[in-house]
Amino acid sequence: MVIEPRMRGFICLTAHPKGCEQNVKNQIEYVKSKGKIDGAKKVLVIGASTGFGLASRIASAFGSDAATIGVFFEKPPQEGKTASPGWYNSAAFEQEATKAGLYAKSINGDAFSDEVKRQTLDMIKADLGQVDLVIYSLASPVRLHPKTGVLHRSTLKPIGQTFTNKTVDFHTGNVTNVSIEPANQEDIDNTVTVMGGEDWAMWMEALKSENLLADGATTIAYSYIGPSLTEPVYRKGTIGRAKDHLEATAFEITDTLKDINGKAYVSVNKALVTQASSAIPVIPLYISLLYKLMKEEGIHEGCIEQIQRLYADRVFTGKDIPLDENGRIRIDDWEMRDDIQDKIAVLWEKATTENLSEIGDLAGYKQDFLNLFGFGFDGVDYLADANEMVQVPSI
Ligand code: NAD
Ligand code: NA
Repeated sequence: MVIEPRMRGFICLTAHPKGCEQNVKNQIEYVKSKGKIDGAKKVLVIGASTGFGLASRIASAFGSDAATIGVFFEKPPQEGKTASPGWYNSAAFEQEATKAGLYAKSINGDAFSDEVKRQTLDMIKADLGQVDLVIYSLASPVRLHPKTGVLHRSTLKPIGQTFTNKTVDFHTGNVTNVSIEPANQEDIDNTVTVMGGEDWAMWMEALKSENLLADGATTIAYSYIGPSLTEPVYRKGTIGRAKDHLEATAFEITDTLKDINGKAYVSVNKALVTQASSAIPVIPLYISLLYKLMKEEGIHEGCIEQIQRLYADRVFTGKDIPLDENGRIRIDDWEMRDDIQDKIAVLWEKATTENLSEIGDLAGYKQDFLNLFGFGFDGVDYLADANEMVQVPSI
């Protein structure tokens, strides 16, 4: 069967196994090309199948020869339906890691649940003994709370007042105005429950209580800040409250790890095209302008470039990790450069449907979006019959 992209709104319903494999192979080649990193050797990645989490798993395995356990929530292939991209990514990752002689196993299920935590602890106990790095890279719209059984839904809303600004439909290139109604307290609380730090702390407590964290273990979760332009809908909106909570949780976790010399960090990463960010109004227009400027300056990065730099230049240098005034690692430094942000502010005012493909990188946005689902890669024969029966070997 030939698999084509089938778009519905902000998502693509299909994914290409060979293209996802190519994506993983490209990331592996990038990490190898940058040389070895003296990093962690036994790594648990929660949210390991796409985006920053997948890049973290690849950078650990192929940069530091690490054994990795990946936890994710993905759909396997079914009769007449492709798998979700993260499923194919993980199958390709395990295949390549195994070829390279590296331990790699995966757990597909709800990371918020007690059962998946239990399964993961048992796997670490049986196979690795302990882990020395835990990457927390979940992005989810919902969380079934394991203690109360309540299903919480996160929202992407401003707080306090309606936010009106420009946005783009990246499929059509149409630039329009959008108004988003403010959140109520329940929206805020739910978003913090889903995307804040509570679950990260639960993971770390579970690992620690069963002595599965090595002495000096590190854990890192990912956050975002962005410019004042997107503040109402991001950093000062509901999701921003969740990120505030996540960042505060890092200090609480560090306190609980004192006796094993462990540390919890938040790394602030760059804005990138992912399934999650494509659904946030205003952000796709910002990203199209950002990509254009960062590419012009030769400082554009994708997830793998970001995480390779995070490991090599920040976390595993043998020196103290440089932190900002709020104790965070900053790998969004190039995005936030004054020259880049000053230019974006000017372009933002100018952007229209007519000029966006020129002043912004709409083509780059679309390409990255297709790439998320395994489409649009060089070296993949998209007209060939795609083998749909790919499996994640360890599941
Ligand atoms: P993503 O959607 O690519 O990855 C999310 C991962 O979480 C996937 O592996 C998915 O399978 C997993 N997942 C989701 N729900 C799960 C569940 N219930 N159980 C187990 N696994 C589950 O997202 P991403 O963009 O890589 O985001 C990861 C982190 O990085 C988030 O905290 C996000 O806020 C942050 N971040 C993103 C950006 C950006 O621009 N995309 C920028 C900075 C920081
Ligand atoms: Na991820």
